[in-house]
Amino acid sequence: MTSILIKNISQLLTLSGADIPRIGNGMMHVGEIHNAAVLIEDDKIIYAGAESDAPDKAELTIDADNCCVTPGLVDPHTHPVFAKTREAEFVMRLEGKPYMEIAAEGGGIMSSVKSLRDVEKNQLKEMTRKRLDGFINYGTTTIEAKSGYGLTTEDEIKSLEIIKELNEEHPLTMVPTFLGAHSIPTEYKNDRDEFLRIVIEEMLPKVVENNLAKYCDIFCEKGVFDAEESRLVLARAMELGLKIRIHSDEFEPIGGTELAGELKAASADHLTAVTDSGIQAMKDGGVTPIVLPATTFFLGHTHYSPARKMIEQGLPLAIATDFNPGSSMTHSLPMAMTIACINMKLLPQEALNACTVNAAYSLDLQEQIGTIEKGKNADLVIWDTENFNQVVYHFGVNHAKTVIKNGRVVK
Ligand code: NIG
Ligand code: FE
Repeated sequence: MTSILIKNISQLLTLSGADIPRIGNGMMHVGEIHNAAVLIEDDKIIYAGAESDAPDKAELTIDADNCCVTPGLVDPHTHPVFAKTREAEFVMRLEGKPYMEIAAEGGGIMSSVKSLRDVEKNQLKEMTRKRLDGFINYGTTTIEAKSGYGLTTEDEIKSLEIIKELNEEHPLTMVPTFLGAHSIPTEYKNDRDEFLRIVIEEMLPKVVENNLAKYCDIFCEKGVFDAEESRLVLARAMELGLKIRIHSDEFEPIGGTELAGELKAASADHLTAVTDSGIQAMKDGGVTPIVLPATTFFLGHTHYSPARKMIEQGLPLAIATDFNPGSSMTHSLPMAMTIACINMKLLPQEALNACTVNAAYSLDLQEQIGTIEKGKNADLVIWDTENFNQVVYHFGVNHAKTVIKNGRVVK
């Protein structure tokens, strides 16, 4: 047995002690303890509380040096398996070309599809591994990880196998999501039905047979997949035993969020253009809304998802980076929190609940992660600041000093 005592914590935000998921005013609950200590045994937390009451018998003691400690962050929407980066498109956008126009001309998701298909599995795996280090580096200990840049059975399986293998080899936990319906590939532009047939009859069964995903997702958007096509794919996924998530209302509200509510999806993500009927549907269906502030920021848009409204309506808001080479090239949840606080008018406590408890809830991992309390996995971050507000306030700087994952110091 290995044990670690973290002491001299000026502000411990346990996030424990209130109902999960966090809704309404509950999103302000951070379970704050001053002059605190945390004791870890093997991969579990066994004590979190006042330092004066902490058991003083550990093999390793870490002096937090009057810094702030929170649970490891949980990023519930990422696309980490890709080959080439797309800074040329970033520059095109700076020159005035919109994201969806670049995509319509064969850039966007399809440019990542081309480069992914061209690289060998092992090379792709090593590229992905480096990106996982990036998440840990910024204090994230669990991510949801999507395929979606392969769009053939073989390349989607290749992407999901990489996630599975790296999950065993790398300290970061990844929850795998199949996103074979991320775009209609160019070769099926004139035969959408055939591509959908391949997703439904070939890809999905193979993914399930090989136990490669927990969730199925689809990009429901004008010019990509409509709500009826999304229903076909997601309903089939559910029949095969997968849970579902959806990219909806990113640019135009075409019914994806309403569908998420109807099918009781785990999450509906983006929601920049969500309407009142979408919000009501999420409420009725118990769907977690996941907003992606870094994406809106990175695309240079000024209209952000109505996060405040969703909180006021009693929805358990979560925040993700949407890490991907096109619309959000960042690993940093703290950066996403800063953007959410400024542009969605959240408070740091709400942002932290959105990136821990509620993010874990959207992945059905709330029993294991998201809070620092006895029995939970020992995933936590020592920030180089006295309090958490400073992490959000002092932006563009990486404050994650020490990261512990399953009881092991990984940074
Ligand atoms: O969530 N919106 C759809 N998919 C990704 C972007 C993918 C890309 O541009 O490569 C997203 O933003
Ligand atoms: Fe996405």
